[in-house]
Amino acid sequence: MNETLRRLLFLPQQRSTVAHDIDSLHYFVISVTLAGSVLVFLLAAIFTIRYRHPPEEPPTPNPEANYRRPAVLMEIVILAGLLTLFLTWWVIGSRQFVRLRVAPEGALEVYVTAKQWMWKFAYPDGKRTITTLYVPARTPIKLIMTSRDVIHSFYVPDFRIKQDVVPGRYTTAWFQVTEPGSYQILCAEYCGTGHSAMRGEVIALEPSEYERWLADRPFTGGPAGEAYVEPYTPEEGVSPQMINLVNEGQRAAAEHGCLRCHTTDGSAHIGPTWAGLYGSIVPLAGEAQTVADEAYITQSMMDPTAKIHRGYVAVMPSFLGRIRPAETAAIVEFIKSLRSVPRQGPGGEDPGPVRMGGITP
Ligand code: CUA
Repeated sequence: MNETLRRLLFLPQQRSTVAHDIDSLHYFVISVTLAGSVLVFLLAAIFTIRYRHPPEEPPTPNPEANYRRPAVLMEIVILAGLLTLFLTWWVIGSRQFVRLRVAPEGALEVYVTAKQWMWKFAYPDGKRTITTLYVPARTPIKLIMTSRDVIHSFYVPDFRIKQDVVPGRYTTAWFQVTEPGSYQILCAEYCGTGHSAMRGEVIALEPSEYERWLADRPFTGGPAGEAYVEPYTPEEGVSPQMINLVNEGQRAAAEHGCLRCHTTDGSAHIGPTWAGLYGSIVPLAGEAQTVADEAYITQSMMDPTAKIHRGYVAVMPSFLGRIRPAETAAIVEFIKSLRSVPRQGPGGEDPGPVRMGGITP
């Protein structure tokens, strides 16, 4: 049934774990609206024929014109029906939305940088590719995406995923490919004259082949049997030696002076320590708190005064436009690598800022 409708509507193949359910919801919405419009059309046709004005007859007065039949019961039935339909729709839709938004625990993370007009991918071990995203099949992949210039949108029709990629912040998307193959990536947000050429490709490999690709050894049995050897393509200004994302993050953090205020060993200093920061609950002013995820860490770099860690003073400058998005990604990855370093405050919480000379700023 699903497959028949897919062919009927000329939809692309379903090659991710969510594609089938997304199509099902799509068919449900189409069928319900189609049924609704057919009903309206039929009623209009019936009424047109039944109540048309006969040619030679004078109009007959309607004896029931001033009489209203109590139709409360029918109204209740119709309203209840519509409400049920709406709720069903909403429940299916919201469950799918959550499933689509929240990546499974332990998903493989790949950083995506979009720019006019190409896609760049950085893998956790430091490998990078342009245009082609290599992933293992049957494994959840989480994309952490940002743009270097304008808004783009990462779209893989075969996976039924589409997510805006926005400069200055991170958006995420995840998917799990059901079988090895090559799948087209399109940009779904008009981003300039090269928009239509901003294409890419997801190559889903057997997990063992993916491991071999990561280890940089050529393998046989790919789509054309050839070896995938991607040349290293450095970002502008990044030395080829710094291919490891974490190392790159550490280097960028040192270069931009982050480490003058933030420690990485859990000790107290001017800014909150990065040790154990990622994934922790950060107390903010008043009773508010937030989770230190990619979004919060990125926001703290770009707009440091937006959410200040309780007990700290807003002395940090904004790094918006001062660090490249690729460096932002690397610094986030560096902070993530410190997530299990213990903090040195009593009970392991943030040790708090250093008060210089006993003066509380
Ligand atoms: Cu990038 Cu359209």
